[in-house]
Amino acid sequence: MNAIIVTKDADLRKIIAQCCASHHPTIHIVSEFPGMNSKLGAIATVYPSLVFLDAQGDEKDVLSSLETTAAKYPQADIMLLAPMQSATLLMTAMRAGVREVIDLPLSVKSFHEAVDRILSQQRESSREDGKILSFISCKGGSGTTFIADNLAYALSSVSNKKVLLFDLNLQFGDAALFLSDVQPSMTLADLCRQIHRLDATLLDSSLIHVTPSFGILPASNEPDPYDTIRPEQIDAILHLARQEYDFIFIDLGRQINGILIRALDQSDHIFPIIQQSLPYLRNGLRLLGLFDMLGYQKEKIRFIVNRHEANTIGVEAVERSLGQPIAYLVPNNFDVVNESINQGVSVLKLARSCNVTKALVEITHAYSGAREPDNDSIIRRFFVRNKSI
Ligand SMILES: Nc1ncnc2c1ncn2[C@@H]1O[C@H](COP(=O)(O)OP(=O)(O)OP(=O)(O)O)[C@@H](O)[C@H]1O
Ligand SMILES: [Mg+2]
Repeated sequence: MNAIIVTKDADLRKIIAQCCASHHPTIHIVSEFPGMNSKLGAIATVYPSLVFLDAQGDEKDVLSSLETTAAKYPQADIMLLAPMQSATLLMTAMRAGVREVIDLPLSVKSFHEAVDRILSQQRESSREDGKILSFISCKGGSGTTFIADNLAYALSSVSNKKVLLFDLNLQFGDAALFLSDVQPSMTLADLCRQIHRLDATLLDSSLIHVTPSFGILPASNEPDPYDTIRPEQIDAILHLARQEYDFIFIDLGRQINGILIRALDQSDHIFPIIQQSLPYLRNGLRLLGLFDMLGYQKEKIRFIVNRHEANTIGVEAVERSLGQPIAYLVPNNFDVVNESINQGVSVLKLARSCNVTKALVEITHAYSGAREPDNDSIIRRFFVRNKSI
């Protein structure tokens, strides 16, 4: 982060510079000024995101310096260092959008704490909206829940991102059971009933927390969930989820209806799960036809071949039939996958070095752009078929 110091006090300037150099992450001082007045014009050549402004001396000068700084660096946060905090100074500071006012003489501890608060607020406000990834079966039992669950788990583990998984397989959803034995206290249907009080806290408290950074919103247990869950409620929940989480995975199961179309519309990518057999291929083509009718670009669709085997219909033949590239392969390993599902534990935790886990981790790295030392490993080249999609 770049910062500027505005002070006439040489000792204070030295302490601030020392604190910035020792802060983690380091704060780079790009300019230092004895004062700030409107005649100086645009003075810092490198734009700062933080200004340390000394509020010692004549209050009128300080107030004018503060207003000039706020006008010149509207995107920067201002930290005011003040020996006395008069009501007028605090009012002007508030109006100018000052983030922190700290006492002089400077306490190194409170300086670092104030900088940390500013950094964390800046990180929060610069966070991009989360991505929505929807997983849909080309045919029942294709492995959609297994892949959505385990990719979500892998992504939250290897990338340190906040991940949420929605089970939108409204009647037969079992996504939570694949990764947890916790009895859900809330479901999507319960959340929809309380939609008038939807906020980040309610959403978070409705989840089964598989890890601190990964939660699942279980499917409903309603005999007729379509009575309770409305498409506009799904819009509202997804809108909030995008602001709160880095990645939102959706297990859509194998149905298409008004509610699921809302989720598909909002998805950044749709992952149809296919296997190497004719019934899957036929349904894959039907799905593509449907996506075309819904106006989705081909780039939005990323096929995953699950239970991949070498000795059956080849991946190239599948691609030719679909007229669409296959993005990723997940190998066949019934023993490990079944054990993981039966225990309700992710494959990453259960069998870190098995072929399915390796494939899922490689897909996660390739998709999220997370850096890896062996970025072009043979394993990656095998499971990640097409880097550009
Ligand atoms: N890569 C794999 N290797 C071996 N077996 C697998 C693999 N992936 C999934 N399976 C098997 O396929 C079965 C179905 O998986 P899963 O429940 O994830 O499919 P689904 O598409 O979500 O099914 P549904 O249509 O019922 O929602 C699992 O019980 C598991 O045994
Ligand atoms: Mg399923």
